[in-house]
Amino acid sequence: MDEEKGILPTGEYYTPHMNRYREVYERSLREPEKFWSEQAQVLDWFRTWDRVLDDSNPPFYRWFVNGKLNVSYNCLDRHLKQHRRNKAAYIWVAENGEEKIVTYDGLYRRVNNFARALQDLGIRRGDRVVIYLPMILEAPVAMLACARIGAVFSFVFAGFGAQALADRIKDSEATMVITADGGFRNGKIVELKKTVDEALEMTSTVRTVVVVKRTGHEVNMEEGRDVWWHDVVKDGMNYVEPEWMDANDPLFILYTSGTTGKPKGALHGNGGYSVWVANTLRWAFDPQEDDRWWCAADIGWITGHSYIVFAPLILGLTSIMYEGSITYPAPDRLWEIVERYRVNILYTSPTAIRTLMRYGEKYPKMHDLSSLKTLGTVGEPINPAAWKWYYENIGGSRCPIIDTYWQTETGGFMISPQLGLGLVPLKPGSATFPMPGVDPVVVDESGRELPPEQKGYIIYRRPWPGMFLTLYRDPERFKKVYFERFPGNYFCGDYCVKDKDGYYWLLGRADEVLNVSGHRLGTIEVEDALISYKEVAEAAVFGRPDPVKGEVIVAFVVIKDEFAHDRDVVQRIRKRIREDLGPIYVPEEIHVVTKLPKTRSGKIMRRVVKAVALGQLPGDISTLEDSASVEEIKTAIEEFR
Ligand code: WT7
Repeated sequence: MDEEKGILPTGEYYTPHMNRYREVYERSLREPEKFWSEQAQVLDWFRTWDRVLDDSNPPFYRWFVNGKLNVSYNCLDRHLKQHRRNKAAYIWVAENGEEKIVTYDGLYRRVNNFARALQDLGIRRGDRVVIYLPMILEAPVAMLACARIGAVFSFVFAGFGAQALADRIKDSEATMVITADGGFRNGKIVELKKTVDEALEMTSTVRTVVVVKRTGHEVNMEEGRDVWWHDVVKDGMNYVEPEWMDANDPLFILYTSGTTGKPKGALHGNGGYSVWVANTLRWAFDPQEDDRWWCAADIGWITGHSYIVFAPLILGLTSIMYEGSITYPAPDRLWEIVERYRVNILYTSPTAIRTLMRYGEKYPKMHDLSSLKTLGTVGEPINPAAWKWYYENIGGSRCPIIDTYWQTETGGFMISPQLGLGLVPLKPGSATFPMPGVDPVVVDESGRELPPEQKGYIIYRRPWPGMFLTLYRDPERFKKVYFERFPGNYFCGDYCVKDKDGYYWLLGRADEVLNVSGHRLGTIEVEDALISYKEVAEAAVFGRPDPVKGEVIVAFVVIKDEFAHDRDVVQRIRKRIREDLGPIYVPEEIHVVTKLPKTRSGKIMRRVVKAVALGQLPGDISTLEDSASVEEIKTAIEEFR
């Protein structure tokens, strides 16, 4: 590859630094133990590890064996001594424009006080606590307070419905839920406490619900179970000694969708995870001490866990945290915040960019965006048109775009341009090169490495520190889902092409998992919900490519005879999905048919439904039982268009 000039005509900034990146990258693979011992210095450890990596029991790799640390100590206590006591940890902006600034000292006090409240309420090391909060400061406070006392938290995105919440409470056997009366979204109240009440009717482990007063609207408070945050948190400063956690003790469980109806609880540890997120943030974005970093994601997803909470706090940065929708009250919301707080680094999703792009250049032009130095994206492949719009209209053709490819399971970035190690020439739509320690290869069905320019599966040949420890209470599924397909390698489920210059192009999921607006959702979760409704006999769900959201959900349902003449049935189904799973699970299209294509053994052929509905060739349909069903799908789609 031509190392002298960038591939894009992007000016001075893109002087290639291939060599520096390569040097660090190659060293990370050549001497991993030494490399990772050095990188682990990003943290303060109570006790140093005995071994950097224990790989004696694959795929249960353990990093920094017997190292002891506390993540909340690393995010807070140590900064008080390092001249960051009065530095802003968060500049929080509410949807209505209200602002709160919390310093490192202020966050330290809040976390200690809440950690004390957790102890007073009987939460001990190892207990599971579900957090179901909107984007308010109590969210990072609750996460860090759990980390401080060694409780394992599981954050459930506040956009999820009662059934989804109940499933996660059940699987984690949580004894406490931390929530709010409600949240704000597009100027309206989102009921959270009410949803918790519904979820708790389906579960039996929760003893205490801590409720933050956010909206102030009337909510039910169950005597003996529900307590207000402001009642249980004492005034003043109640110091709580940080627990000495083992590097491989669990820090949190985060559920993500797979190819079955049951979400997978990715379990992340204290040590390797923290080393990984802090270093990957440094390498990819190179944030400086006085920069203002804005990861415009929700804390309920891994992006928020790693890059709103843990990595920026470990590094002692100042983050913007925003509560509301990106188009409320107007489509210049993000740009207004960038101007008002003179944000230096903005990290968002391709869906957000495509959504805002539709409103035109007028909105970014209303604001002074000159504070921006670097831009980033995450969650899905970015198409070159959106890349170009972001680059020109938001970055003023001066800011590199850091396209970070990773997953809930990987803890942090896996493939990304790395400003901190020397920026390589960018190609819009490619996440470029692997992070140090990441050893990817693109293979065919049988696991053979493919030559450049050929599409295959991306797998990883060795573990990295941020890798999840296991699937919570399901080590068998952990082995089966990730390590069986290509034995000895981590299989992440994505398609990829490596081009002749060695750049990686991530091409989306290779399984029945959906990516809607950069969020991973399972087709089977939606099917399971649909068929649990008394009106629905059968269902097939799949993703249709969408120019803004990447993919949208399409459902074909067979309605039971007794409801065949019920006109409101589809409306009711929509409403139920919204309540049970959450708004993002509501199908864009629901088509009613009298039968679905099935194999002779009675299995619904989702692949055929999808192909026919998208006007593609359905492939092999020799096992199809009744071809009339295919005609019916065609007719349903034609009538819809
Ligand atoms: C899946 C992971 C990583 C945090 C948000 C999503 C897709 C993610 C990219 C990217 C192409 C991407 C993959 C991956 N994905 N980032 N930059 N380019 N695809 O986390 O819910 O665990 O989903 O998102 O398909 O497997 P997640």
